[in-house]
Amino acid sequence: MPRFRTIDDLDVSGKRVLLRADLNVPVKDGKVTDATRIERLAPTIEALIQKGARIVVMSHFGRPKGPDPAQSLRPLVQPLSQAIGGRPVQFAADCVGPEAERVVNALKPGEVALLENLRFHPGEEANDPDFARQLAALGDVYVDDAFSAAHRAHASIEALAHLLPSAAGKNMQAELEALGAAFESPRHPVMALIGGAKVSTKLDLLSFIIRKTDLMAIGGAMANTFLFAKGRPVGRSLCEQDLADHARFILSCAEEDGCDIILPEDAVTAEKLEPGVLTRTVGVHAVPMNAMILDIGPQTVARISLALERSRTLIWNGPLGAFETPPFDRATTLIAKKVAELTQAGQLMSVAGGGDTVAALAAAGVTDQLSYVSTAGGAFLEWLEGKELPGVAALATA
Ligand code: 3PG
Ligand code: MG
Repeated sequence: MPRFRTIDDLDVSGKRVLLRADLNVPVKDGKVTDATRIERLAPTIEALIQKGARIVVMSHFGRPKGPDPAQSLRPLVQPLSQAIGGRPVQFAADCVGPEAERVVNALKPGEVALLENLRFHPGEEANDPDFARQLAALGDVYVDDAFSAAHRAHASIEALAHLLPSAAGKNMQAELEALGAAFESPRHPVMALIGGAKVSTKLDLLSFIIRKTDLMAIGGAMANTFLFAKGRPVGRSLCEQDLADHARFILSCAEEDGCDIILPEDAVTAEKLEPGVLTRTVGVHAVPMNAMILDIGPQTVARISLALERSRTLIWNGPLGAFETPPFDRATTLIAKKVAELTQAGQLMSVAGGGDTVAALAAAGVTDQLSYVSTAGGAFLEWLEGKELPGVAALATA
């Protein structure tokens, strides 16, 4: 992991701090439905307030093609204010130019402003140096607290970091420290738990993970592709048959790298993916032709639980079954509770991330009982693929 400055290394008193946040939160009918990213940003803002900074928060929201009132950040003013104890948050209807300057120049030490959606300007996604210079004109120092957007080489993330003294915010720092602890000097055995629907979206991740871990358990529909590759009957299950060679190649690499693989031994099957549907639990040799594998079975849950008990570090991405549709959330919930219990007992260092994984942990009610749960989707996956993240590289000091 590259070395980076934190906000304690910067002199921010009285300075204008450009704070790159990720306020790309889910919103429905004008209401934020999951405020986790806003809540995680709050400690950085509070710390900057304490230090007497003038705080200019900037973020993208959605994927607009130019200015679009439906993707304005204005509705985030109130939730952001609420997250920092009700302190007022000023709003600038543009993120650069005279309107932004007017709002920023009126800030007193300890006050906060939010700029309009960065992606209203094409220069943001183009990592355009001129656009970055327009942003830089609004601040004296730069703080990046948006790990979840660090896989984007965009102007407010990459180019801007080189124009001003820069540092990682508290949230970015916590992400980098947790991921670093899991990957760089972890306690062994290190186990990976990888689920989700498709092998095709996780080929790079699987190849990297087997080099980094001692043991990998595979669940979710992607396990079906591995079962198929090993000649097991998968019935009408979701399965990428054309990736069977890839799956066999990954298994042989794992063997060479000394990474043990746990594949499902038994499965919960049904003829339809519907809540409360009639299910049959069978060994993976006996999946009926007309059935679909929708969750891992109890024997596999027991085997994974035992492996977790023997592990010291866990990296988890992807649910183990079709968890949005009960009862196929069962294995994921049981394993989530097991991970939480071992973590709380001080036996396991657990790091989890990815949109579906976070939702599954929240549904199991254990989000705050793991060592670290990342709010990042794409950035977490790219980290698990061993890629350099532009937003992290740009903060590196040496
Ligand atoms: C995310 O929500 O994953 C980040 O904010 C990045 O958003 P993007 O995928 O639109 O770049
Ligand atoms: Mg995304």
